[in-house]
Amino acid sequence: MTDLSKTGAAVGEPAAATPAPSSFLEVRDLKVHFPTDDGLVKSVDGLSFQLEKGKTLGIVGESGSGKSVTSLGIMGLHTAGQYGKRKAQISGEIWLNGTELLSADPDHVRRLRGRQMAMIFQDPLSALHPYYTIGQQIVEAYRVHHGVDKKTAKRRAVEMLDRVGIPQPDKRVDSYPHEFSGGMRQRAMIAMSLVNNPELLIADEPTTALDVTVQAQILDLIRDLQKEFGSAVIIITHDLGVVAELADDILVMYGGRCVERGPADKVFYEPRHPYTWGLLGSMPRLDREQQERLIPVKGSPPSLINVPSGCAFNPRCPYADVPKDNVTRTVRPELAEVGSRHWAACHMTPEQRERIWTEEIAPKL
Ligand SMILES: Nc1ncnc2c1ncn2[C@@H]1O[C@H](COP(=O)(O)OP(=O)(O)OP(=O)(O)O)[C@@H](O)[C@H]1O
Ligand code: SF4
Ligand SMILES: [Mg+2]
Repeated sequence: MTDLSKTGAAVGEPAAATPAPSSFLEVRDLKVHFPTDDGLVKSVDGLSFQLEKGKTLGIVGESGSGKSVTSLGIMGLHTAGQYGKRKAQISGEIWLNGTELLSADPDHVRRLRGRQMAMIFQDPLSALHPYYTIGQQIVEAYRVHHGVDKKTAKRRAVEMLDRVGIPQPDKRVDSYPHEFSGGMRQRAMIAMSLVNNPELLIADEPTTALDVTVQAQILDLIRDLQKEFGSAVIIITHDLGVVAELADDILVMYGGRCVERGPADKVFYEPRHPYTWGLLGSMPRLDREQQERLIPVKGSPPSLINVPSGCAFNPRCPYADVPKDNVTRTVRPELAEVGSRHWAACHMTPEQRERIWTEEIAPKL
């Protein structure tokens, strides 16, 4: 079972000197770096975003782009990881409801975890203990934050299992995780995450391991529960289609940084970054012929150790050679506004991108 009580994170320079934001969640210039024998892995390298209660942010990006490291960072859950025992270096600011978490007392963050913020992990087996029944684990998660007796907590566990659509919850509450199917385990984990009505829920690829029908049910469930509890939700996925439907805002990550961010319909229907165009082209679509092959984004993700100067997407970008005014290739493009609340980090002018999108990309999608 993932040990949620320990964090191997070294807290970076506390930066709580700046005023608290008005947003429910505000991440400012978050960096999570891992020292390894091969060098410093810059898994997240300067990420900023805001999220309000009742809203959903979708974070998309290829494998290794830093999505999980971002969510674990927000939850204060950085173990030394598989690359040795050295601590993660974290800096920036994470403001949750007026509290800056990176400079806060770890015990305080531990108390917030589970109560104010909760996470649904990609693999429920790693978050559920094999030797305890599903009910015992939900009861424990509830009792940590509420001084109630076991009987009351068990009633609450049955109620939550019922809420997430587990049949015969009063019986299944006494089952062990291995007695549940993959979809049921995912539901049980959602029940455990939501037992304390968290105000922030992070769902890290909550459906990847599930078949399409169960995926749709789980996503509906998260949406319903969000409506009911008014929580802020972060959904992490490879699948732009999922977030286009569920999210209010979308943040596209590439090589540990945000390359595009904005309202979901803008990022989905008027994207302004070549990487987002690539993601859209590689998306399975119902209206496409079954036999038509998807076009993955060519090439592989950048090294997070020797991050090239300039645009990290350059080696894979079909538009890298489009002439750009007054820009040196070695300068990294920063996020710049391309529309209302819509930003993208690319050296091409917004006009160049609009033309390429309208004339070359959109007609082919
Ligand atoms: N403890 C660690 N030590 C060193 N590198 C790490 C550690 N944890 C993650 N990384 C690296 O950070 C990068 C980002 O990892 P992360 O798990 O956030 O990717 P992801 O976007 O969630 O990918 P996926 O879609 O496959 O889940 C990867 O290159 C990963 O190898
Ligand atoms: S800055 Fe250049 S290489 Fe990077 S995404 Fe834009 S066009 Fe492509
Ligand atoms: Mg991940």
